[in-house]
Amino acid sequence: MKIGVYPGTFDPITHGHTDIIRRSLRLFDKVIVAVAAPSPSKHPLFDLTERVEMVRLVTKDLARVEVAAFDGLLVQYVKQCGAQAVIRGLRAISDFEYEFQMALLNRKLDDTIETVFLMPSEEYSYLTSSIIKEVARLEGPVTDFLHPEVATRLCQRLRRQSP
Ligand code: PNS
Repeated sequence: MKIGVYPGTFDPITHGHTDIIRRSLRLFDKVIVAVAAPSPSKHPLFDLTERVEMVRLVTKDLARVEVAAFDGLLVQYVKQCGAQAVIRGLRAISDFEYEFQMALLNRKLDDTIETVFLMPSEEYSYLTSSIIKEVARLEGPVTDFLHPEVATRLCQRLRRQSP
């Protein structure tokens, strides 16, 4: 059984992420979407439970997808899942340096795990959770980029935060 782990912060999950999950189901028998616990360098808007909940909601109709939270080293988690690969989306050249560094570091940590890069559909190639949060913060429309329930939660969260 081919298992891939798709890790990320998913703060929140966008149509770009969902596109990568759908594409990865063509390559893997099972895809585990692994939502990362907060790290010292990242301060997500949504807590881990909320981010997991939103990924579950968006992927509920995808039979071979599992969603889980993870903490600690990614390669250890991948091993623990019995998976063979890490899945990452590659949008633009600007992603490359960070992804290259992460893939090579992960390989150095565990040479038995491969990283597979998938390109999202071009309509999502410019999407990032950060840019969508900025649009929402400025009260712009985000419904083209997010599942309706995720869009609602994002707007509610930002409304609660504003002074
Ligand atoms: O969606 P993101 O923020 O680009 O995801 C980054 C993530 C969570 C995949 C990465 O930070 C990660 O793998 N964190 C787990 C800790 C780890 O293994 N670090 C070493 C590899 S960078």
